[in-house]
Amino acid sequence: MRIQKDLKMADVIHMNHHLLHVINRFGIQLGFGDNTVEEVCRNYNVNLDFFLEIVNTYHDPTYFPLGDLQKFPASMLIRYLQKTHQFYLEVKIPEIEVAIQNLIDNVAFEADHLHLLKDFFNNYKNELTDHINKEEQRVYPYALALEHQLANEGHLLEEGLVKANYSIHDYEEDHDDVESKLFDLKNIIIKYLPSPLESVRFNSILHELFELEKDLNNHGHIEDLILIPIVERMESEVAHRIAK
Ligand SMILES: [Fe+2]
Ligand SMILES: [Fe+2]
Repeated sequence: MRIQKDLKMADVIHMNHHLLHVINRFGIQLGFGDNTVEEVCRNYNVNLDFFLEIVNTYHDPTYFPLGDLQKFPASMLIRYLQKTHQFYLEVKIPEIEVAIQNLIDNVAFEADHLHLLKDFFNNYKNELTDHINKEEQRVYPYALALEHQLANEGHLLEEGLVKANYSIHDYEEDHDDVESKLFDLKNIIIKYLPSPLESVRFNSILHELFELEKDLNNHGHIEDLILIPIVERMESEVAHRIAK
C-alpha cells in the first residue's frame, strides 16, 4: 500500500518502522499525535510531494517514478542525500563498529575470524567515506552551483564551472556501487563464521548490514537515476545560454 498524504504519520510508522530513519532525514521527529502526513509536513515546513515520493521509493522498491522525481530541484534532492550520508557515517557505521567490537570483546574463541571481520569492515568504512567525500566536495557543489547560476542569469558560467573542466558525465562514469562490497561482508558472516554460541550477536550484525545495503541501494538509485539527469539538463541549459 502506497503512503498517502491523508494517512496518519503514526500509522505510517506502524506500517513500516524502517521509514523512521528516512522521515528523520527531513528533520521530522517522533511525537506525531494524530496528525496526518500532510499536517506533519506542513508543521515541519517540508515539501509534501517530495516527502511522499522519497518515502514511497523506500517503502516500495518497485515504485520509482523517474519523471515525478526529476521535477524537483537539485538542491532539494541534495539536502536529502546529505542527510543520508550523515546517517551512514555518524549513526549506522559506528553502530555496526560497536557491535563487532562487542563480539570481539565477549567471545573467547575464533578471534582471528572476528579480526578479519573487523578489518574488512574498517576497509569498507574507508571506501564509503571516500565515496561520500567525493560527492560532498565535488559533485554536489557542482550541481548546486549550476542551479544557482541558472537562477541568477546575470552571472553565467564561463568564469567558474566551465573553466573547472568538470561535467556530471565524469561522475556518472566512475560512480561506483558501494553496496557490492557489503555483499562480501555479509557472506563472511553467513558462510565462514561458524559460531553457534554467538549466533544472536551475529544475526543482529547481519541484520544491520542488510538494512544498510537496502538504504545504500535506494540512495545510489536516487543519485544515478534522478540527480544525474537533473544535472545533465542543467548543463545543457547552461551550454545553450552561453552559446546565445
Ligand atoms: Fe551518496
Ligand atoms: Fe554515491
